[in-house]
Amino acid sequence: MSDSRGRSHTPFHFGFVLASLAVALTVGFGYAAILAVLIGFQLPMGNWWVAMLQAHGHAQLLGWIGLFIIGVSLYFLPRLAGTPLRHPRLPAWILSLLTTGIFLRAVSQPLLAAGLEDPVHTGLRWTLGFSAILEIAGVFCYIFLLVITLLGAAPNRAALQTVRIFLAIAIVGWGLYSLLAGALAFHAGFGNNRLLHIAWNRFGIGLFTGFVILPTAMAFSVRTFPLYLRLPAVRWPVARYGQVYLLALILIHVPVLAQLTGTSFASSLAHLSPIGKVLRGGVLLLFIWKLDILFRWYPPWTVNRIGEPGPERRPTRPGLPDYGEFGRFELLLYAAFVFLALAAAVELLDGALVLFRVASPFDPDALRHTHLAGFITLLLLGMAPRMVPGFLHKRKVAFPGLVVATFYLATAAAICRIAPLLLAGILDRVPYGLPVSMTAFGLSGVLGWTSAAVLACNLWMTWRGRAASANAP
Ligand code: HEM
Repeated sequence: MSDSRGRSHTPFHFGFVLASLAVALTVGFGYAAILAVLIGFQLPMGNWWVAMLQAHGHAQLLGWIGLFIIGVSLYFLPRLAGTPLRHPRLPAWILSLLTTGIFLRAVSQPLLAAGLEDPVHTGLRWTLGFSAILEIAGVFCYIFLLVITLLGAAPNRAALQTVRIFLAIAIVGWGLYSLLAGALAFHAGFGNNRLLHIAWNRFGIGLFTGFVILPTAMAFSVRTFPLYLRLPAVRWPVARYGQVYLLALILIHVPVLAQLTGTSFASSLAHLSPIGKVLRGGVLLLFIWKLDILFRWYPPWTVNRIGEPGPERRPTRPGLPDYGEFGRFELLLYAAFVFLALAAAVELLDGALVLFRVASPFDPDALRHTHLAGFITLLLLGMAPRMVPGFLHKRKVAFPGLVVATFYLATAAAICRIAPLLLAGILDRVPYGLPVSMTAFGLSGVLGWTSAAVLACNLWMTWRGRAASANAP
């Protein structure tokens, strides 16, 4: 495929998907499975477990989600911008730097906390510090590549203009998160601390979720869902939603930053955070409404097209443009947006309660995992079988039937991970509520791991050629 001036686009770098799955199956969902079993079944834990949960969180964010986003965006955005990727050899560097950094950090951090003797201990400290340098270098190469590619976009690319604000927020978020996460790991490694500073680390997680994950997901859903799900054409002011979303992010994060840095006026800013939460919850609910993914009240974008599909054509699946060759991927997308709506409603309510000086009953970890194990993980598990075969010039995913298995496993994992915390106040009072919720929590990591393993198997077989090639006769 080439642009209007005949310059050819770079092919899809499948290595990012492989690396994302490798991180998820080892130090991402792998660590989550261990932690959840230990917590859920109340088994004894060593003093490494907090370091392991920090390593799990970072690996899931930068590895499972981040590497996937980078791989897809380096393929998708140059085509959206109508200009080939500059420096086509840079993605291989980005992949190597990030994958090495993520694995070094995820392995060294829990081992460092296990209290091993020198010289292993000193080696682990240096490894943790070095991993931070690799990650920052990898992320800044990615930002550089993305920015120069987008700056070279053809001026009349309306498709790009609509989502430009979300991409700009995401680029800023990548920079902020990598610098902060890098500084924390650097400080822990070279400053001989077992753990990253807990409050700053949680602030970084909020930055990555709010600035990178949610805006990227919004930009991709606006651009691809009308096509993949036959949703209505985007005729609403998407950029306005982006501006309000950005305002909400600033209101949420600036007071927390002021508090963490001990600024003298921090207390006078404190009330802005709940206002930001109400605004973000509200704008996300409106976004879901306008996208029409959950209720499908508006006619699809194909409604005014003549003769589509022609009578001689094989009918597609009801209401969808495909023949089932990507499996029932739409179930994962619908479920992802149910979790996003839930997270938005919880955040809105949480902010409103604080504004009215009522103690919030919501556990921040439940909200975090509603965004992460619920929304973005399900979205990724659904988008992967729909997008990746086409990127690899395949007509279908290797085993369409397995996509529905991913849906059941991942949805069960998310419910088991989130419900015990979100509904703790109710479950504690129901007969057998506590043991059932602890067991569900204990199993959630294994379920999440299995869902990622099923996707990995399906994509691997698609890549290795089990699925028919798009240019086969
Ligand atoms: C369903 C499987 C999962 C299980 C069982 C699980 C388990 C855990 C546990 C036990 C914690 C510690 C909670 C606490 O601090 O109180 C944690 C924290 C965290 N998890 Fe997960 N998780 C899962 C999925 C995910 C996913 C998919 C992501 C990201 C995409 C993620 C990102 C995080 C983050 C960012 C933290 C906070 C780490 C920190 O405070 O440094 N988790 N998870």
